Amino acid sequence: MTKKIAVLPGDGIGTEIIEQAVRVLGALKLDLDLETQPVGGAAYDQHGHPLPPVTLELAKKADAILFGAVGDWKYDNLPREHRPEQAILGLRRALGLFANLRPAILYPELANASSLKPEVVAGLDILIVRELTGDIYFGQPRGVRELSDGPFKGDRQGFDTMHYAETEVRRIGHVAFQAARKRGKKLCSVDKANVLETSQFWRDIMIDVAKEYPDVELTHMYVDNAAMQLVRAPKAFDVIVTGNLFGDILSDEAAMLTGSIGMLPSASLNASNQGLYEPSHGSAPDIAGKNIANPLATILSAAMMLRYSLDAAPQADRIEAAVQKVLQQGLRTADIYEAGTTRVSTSEMGDAVLKALE
Ligand code: NAI
Ligand code: MG
Repeated sequence: MTKKIAVLPGDGIGTEIIEQAVRVLGALKLDLDLETQPVGGAAYDQHGHPLPPVTLELAKKADAILFGAVGDWKYDNLPREHRPEQAILGLRRALGLFANLRPAILYPELANASSLKPEVVAGLDILIVRELTGDIYFGQPRGVRELSDGPFKGDRQGFDTMHYAETEVRRIGHVAFQAARKRGKKLCSVDKANVLETSQFWRDIMIDVAKEYPDVELTHMYVDNAAMQLVRAPKAFDVIVTGNLFGDILSDEAAMLTGSIGMLPSASLNASNQGLYEPSHGSAPDIAGKNIANPLATILSAAMMLRYSLDAAPQADRIEAAVQKVLQQGLRTADIYEAGTTRVSTSEMGDAVLKALE
């Protein structure tokens, strides 16, 4: 059956990197129907909104969304609801994309890109599963209020609310256990259960969900310790599952372990495995239009799309192997270039991946 893919290039380097990922998908000879629509600043320019109805409708009916990046300095003065970045939040909300999967992989060939010692990070391959639609980022009530008692009586106070419903914890738990089952069969749930009620509840639910996955080893870690262990011994992790706030911070930390933002894909999934796939980086306006951006994060995002939303794991494996091959051949875009390797452009990197696929 034909699978529908919404291709949303967005702004900045988005168009350049998506073009290469689309070429790679085309080479696989799968039954895919790709339709492109603008998103972010490009959509604002064309339709007066970063997520116009044509784009939202396409995204809703698609099996998966391949997303470039959005944002540019020239939109900085727009009211918040018209900023390019609102498109991502709108898509997450409209599609219920509650599970964010961020692999942090350091290919052996790029071990020098990390700020950590090669022996600590070479061959790193971990997956962070971050809950994306709950937690203190969305909890109500929130705002600024006047205190009516306590040591700061009469003072103004800013406040947010952290909470997780059982269903929210269970469903992200299942996503994480299933991912762990397909990998190293180790899941570390990260929380702050020594201090937070929300976290103790999270931990209790994870322990319960674990009963359905006897083949996966579940451990727990406090978030402050996890932040330390990620730089001390990151390879000890396989899959990490955590809430929205902790996951935001830890996934950026893990990305930096690899030192190459141009290499990191991501996926955001909902309960029906519909997903939005995008590189972890932004629209890089500083290098846009120069054909020098690294397209590999986007090409690897397309591989994740095949694996998680399109039921095409063998083709995902092929893309990942092709990426590994071009790195072994010594081909590097500017962001990962080092002496002794061959510097290539965005489109040349796409050419090389296509060739490696043959
Ligand atoms: P950024 O990730 O766009 O760029 C950070 C640095 O990394 C820049 O020096 C850039 O040149 C470099 N870089 C990023 N991707 C690269 C690639 N594929 N190849 C080579 N170099 C690459 O983050 P920044 O500068 O903070 O944000 C720029 C714009 O992107 C802003 O408007 C921001 O809001 C937006 N943004 C969008 C995201 C999305 O669409 N999901 C995520 C993060 C930021
Ligand atoms: Mg972040």
